[in-house]
Amino acid sequence: MSSVSWFLNQFFPRTLLDRIMSKQFGLNVFSTQIKQRNPHRLSNQQRVVLITGCSVGGIGHALAEEFHSRGARVFATARRLESMRALEELGITTFELDVTSIESIRKVHDQVSQLTGGRLDILINNAGRECIMAVSDMDIDIARRTFEINVHGAISMVQEFIQLLVASGDGCVVNSGSIAGILPLPFSAAYNSSKAAVHALSNTLRVELAPFNVKVVNLVAGEVSSSTSRPLLLPDNSIYKPIESTLLRKCGRISQATVLPTAHYAKRVVNELSKSKPKPWYWYGDKSLLCWIFDTFLWKTSLDGMLIKMFGISELAGLIQSKKAKND
Ligand SMILES: NC(=O)c1ccc[n+]([C@@H]2O[C@H](COP(=O)([O-])OP(=O)(O)OC[C@H]3O[C@@H](n4cnc5c(N)ncnc54)[C@H](OP(=O)(O)O)[C@@H]3O)[C@@H](O)[C@H]2O)c1
Repeated sequence: MSSVSWFLNQFFPRTLLDRIMSKQFGLNVFSTQIKQRNPHRLSNQQRVVLITGCSVGGIGHALAEEFHSRGARVFATARRLESMRALEELGITTFELDVTSIESIRKVHDQVSQLTGGRLDILINNAGRECIMAVSDMDIDIARRTFEINVHGAISMVQEFIQLLVASGDGCVVNSGSIAGILPLPFSAAYNSSKAAVHALSNTLRVELAPFNVKVVNLVAGEVSSSTSRPLLLPDNSIYKPIESTLLRKCGRISQATVLPTAHYAKRVVNELSKSKPKPWYWYGDKSLLCWIFDTFLWKTSLDGMLIKMFGISELAGLIQSKKAKND
């Protein structure tokens, strides 16, 4: 069974597996009925969009602007209202929302529900945080917090807004995945694994929500310019201490890459979400194509050597070897 899953996953569209799964669990019967009841798709002008994590300078902020410019009714949310001042000035409704607080989510749910008559067409789970630490140095509380925001936050949002999305008749959940969830990027395991969890969450949710005509899109974002980047955390007893200066330089440079402007990325994402059948996995952003090729056609360890060199880990191997030679 595992080799069949690998073969299907690798070489066939994700929707083929969906059909098999939904048939096996008896979900596809309802899907046909609902599609018949809701034959008309909404245009962007009529769509209601809710986005989390819309602080200025980030992807959420750019998505809110792009949807608004196309006439959609946008609810932009972030932990701090002042970080969305520019969106408010454009006429976009903004709400304070922390995705790790159920009370905060419920408050926004009630406000949106009241303003739209109980309907939401697109929920974009964009809120997220980075976490730059080696696995051996990992502060478990920070790793937990990363999962709480990136994964559990998205689940809570879906749980609270599901009735509104179903009421739409043409709903869509968009989750913020990343090439980090696919590549073995060092010093980023907590973030990488949280994004891999988002990918798996999107896959399962897509099959579960199929009967309700609620689509699920997993954004596999490459590098996009971002306002924030967290520094590498390197405790004094870290086994990577000998290459600290190299790591601080390399990790900083890579996480702050400002290759693709958020506005450009947002335009492409909104184009995709405006289609009647958006791709279930939408790969876009710097290095996303490279990552797709690696994921689809190459073996799992094919990038190890390059990443070891790129992050200065080979320097550490050299230091360990020369120390060993001295001691012998
Ligand atoms: N930029 C990239 O290259 C890239 C690549 C792949 C995936 N992504 C993903 O895309 C999404 C947006 O990233 P970005 O680059 O735009 O980063 P960003 O500018 O740091 O945006 C992240 C947003 O999430 C918010 N957030 C953090 N914790 C939250 C919480 N508990 N509740 C609600 N909001 C919270 C942040 O709010 P505060 O301002 O209050 O902290 C901020 O608004 C993230 O999920 C990220 O993982 C980004």
